[in-house]
Amino acid sequence: MTMNPNHVNELIRNRRSVFQQQYTGERVDDKIVQQMLENANWAPTHKLTEPWRFIVFTGEGIKRLAAAQAAVYRQVTESDGSYKEERYQNLLTKPMLSSHIIAVAMKRDEKKSVPQIEEVGAVFCAVQNIYLTATAYGIGCYLSTGGITYFEEAKEAFGLGVDDLLIGFFHIGIPKGDIAPGKRKPVADKVIWER
Ligand SMILES: Cc1cc2nc3c(=O)[nH]c(=O)nc-3n(C[C@H](O)[C@H](O)[C@H](O)COP(=O)(O)O)c2cc1C
Repeated sequence: MTMNPNHVNELIRNRRSVFQQQYTGERVDDKIVQQMLENANWAPTHKLTEPWRFIVFTGEGIKRLAAAQAAVYRQVTESDGSYKEERYQNLLTKPMLSSHIIAVAMKRDEKKSVPQIEEVGAVFCAVQNIYLTATAYGIGCYLSTGGITYFEEAKEAFGLGVDDLLIGFFHIGIPKGDIAPGKRKPVADKVIWER
């Protein structure tokens, strides 16, 4: 098998996070989302635990997700006094701007043979595969770790156990207009070579 490294360089450097306000509102073909998930499934995984789990919401499914996450938010924040109506309304309505939303989770291996940090790392590798596949198809997307991601009470709604983790919500949509170029400080600032 021969590959053109320039294609990989170009793909990686053109990957961008594209947010809901930048989506046209059109539906992305489920077949493309399926390709994203197939590629996610090829992420590296220590001891082949394959800890990534995905729940894909689209159409009416997104409305159910919105209602469920808003309800979890209300229940948790009303009891600790941090409830904000604007945030609640946001959780209830903003998801509808996305074509698909993938709830991304880490399912803990029962034998716990791999440290948790590695399982989380494997799931983020899977997320990167989704990002890159979306880029190749010209689809907009981004990972959100906002909303109820870190609410312990959210786990049950996604069929997760206490040792599992909700990693975030991956939003997908058709981008409108040009996507702004990315920004990074030089890699040289972050690398030491010892020769
Ligand atoms: C672990 C992780 C969590 C993120 N969570 C959010 C988020 O909650 N909200 C958001 O707007 N962007 C989130 N992002 C996307 C970043 O905003 C985005 O990667 C950053 O702006 C760099 O832009 P780029 O992805 O186009 O290079 C997250 C990215 C990662 C890797």
